[in-house]
Amino acid sequence: MTGFWRGAAAGLVLAGLPISAFAGDVARGKDVFARTCQNCHATEIGVHKIGPTLWNIVGRQPASAPDYAYSAAMKANKEPWTPAALESYLANPREDLHGVKMYFKGLPDARDRADVITYLETLK
Ligand code: HEC
Repeated sequence: MTGFWRGAAAGLVLAGLPISAFAGDVARGKDVFARTCQNCHATEIGVHKIGPTLWNIVGRQPASAPDYAYSAAMKANKEPWTPAALESYLANPREDLHGVKMYFKGLPDARDRADVITYLETLK
């Protein structure tokens, strides 16, 4: 499943490289986002759709966008949205321990996940 990417991620963390060293392809990630996330998520501050805004999501606490009615499971999740946490969540949102209310089957392709996470890192 996510072994390769996770292994690579863990290796980079162990090597002390910054998180942003997981360079995926931003343009491709934006395209994946438009096709698979945008129906439910906006990227602007304070704009919620079915899901909460994903502005500044990378590194922030789960369930921390104001004025969004998160599930109890998401509110109980205290692990920040690091690229590794996002990778695990997006691989299988329904079965990941975080979730949850997101009726989305996830992104089965590791490259799609890496690219969309790289795109999410630009939303600041
Ligand atoms: C069918 C609608 C839907 C789709 C498609 C969807 N999401 Fe979500 N997402 C949600 C909902 C609803 C929540 C709130 C979950 C909760 O409160 O438990 C959520 C929550 C999240 C969160 C946690 C936000 C926070 O503030 O803690 C992240 C990160 C996220 N989604 C990323 C994505 C990404 C990236 C994609 C595309 C690859 C995606 N989602 C696709 C509906 C969706």
